[in-house]
Amino acid sequence: MARISLRQLLDHAAEHDYAVPAFNINNMEQGLAILEAADQVSAPVIIQASRGARQYANDIMLAKMIDALVEMYPHIPVCMHQDHGNSEATCATAIQHGFTSVMMDGSLEADAKTPASYDYNVAITRRVVDMAHWIGVSVEGELGVLGSLESGQGEKEDGHGFEGVLSHDQLLTDPAQAVDFVRLTEVDALAIAMGTSHGAYKFTRKPDGDILAMGVIEEVHRRLPNTHLVMHGSSSVPQDLQDIINQYGGEMPQTWGVPVEEIQRGIKFGVRKINIDTDNRMAMTGQIRRILTEHPDEFDPRKYLKPAMEAMRKVCRQRLEEFGTAGHAPQIKALPLSAMAKRYASGELSPKFGAHAKQQAAE
Ligand code: G3H
Ligand code: 13P
Ligand code: ZN
Repeated sequence: MARISLRQLLDHAAEHDYAVPAFNINNMEQGLAILEAADQVSAPVIIQASRGARQYANDIMLAKMIDALVEMYPHIPVCMHQDHGNSEATCATAIQHGFTSVMMDGSLEADAKTPASYDYNVAITRRVVDMAHWIGVSVEGELGVLGSLESGQGEKEDGHGFEGVLSHDQLLTDPAQAVDFVRLTEVDALAIAMGTSHGAYKFTRKPDGDILAMGVIEEVHRRLPNTHLVMHGSSSVPQDLQDIINQYGGEMPQTWGVPVEEIQRGIKFGVRKINIDTDNRMAMTGQIRRILTEHPDEFDPRKYLKPAMEAMRKVCRQRLEEFGTAGHAPQIKALPLSAMAKRYASGELSPKFGAHAKQQAAE
């Protein structure tokens, strides 16, 4: 059984200069597509469930599904991660259901809408880190609010994210504050706000540095070279997937996502986890639309879910190859969470700061 903690996986990725995509899961088809892709290219993988996914699928169903996937693919290290936890309770119940990693998103208050104060973020993230590390589970934190640098809008989607206009300061992670945040919370990974947002409608043109601030990643990495960075909202929204949806009756306005080459640049600057949901949603939806349009007499869900799974598997495989994750599964021997807990207790996994951060602390 190869269920792995986020920390162990991202430490391996950092050591070998690659990153790991974190694919969202809501149902069996997505789980099978992710693991088939990982198996085809011998890659470790992160599967993540949002609060919405947990409500949709039911915690027990999700937990048993992950058990099944891990049993079917025992040679693939699988990290099971809570996406955008909004409270201590959300993180605790995820751990109860076998998650090996949680995100405590304290950039927003518990309503997952209102931008939180820095002090609130530090305090709640620290509490979750204490609880999780006692039992060897990893924690991702977030500093800065996700949203568009083009419009200044937060990214309210499916009940998550701020609705309204934010200042540039709120939309961009402050690198100096990131050092302080990691020191105070001891998170295992840090999500950076730099102009990405969830969903398909990220940019109205191919993004440049004004609206996709990769420079923030570079500066945070310069100050925190040993901290694993996370890019949210990192679907690339490929043109061919937009075209398939629209060719078969969809009405998606033209849009742009995060170009893969920008993510690859981020990987050179400490990005180790890349969150992808929208691309997979679009891949599945395109095939479902195609089958139902071409065969309007069809009513067996397997007839459209199988091509949908196949399209999602292709996207997952492509990202595992593009991010350098492919080929690394056989090198990793997943440690049980009890061993990770001992490593945290010994101080071995406490944050290590580069010269620049030490200088900042002294000032
Ligand atoms: O956090 C964003 C992911 O795309 C999950 O979306 O909350 O609609 O499941 P969701
Ligand atoms: P996308 O909507 O770009 O796929 O981002 C997903 C995400 O960040 C989940 O946390
Ligand atoms: Zn996200």
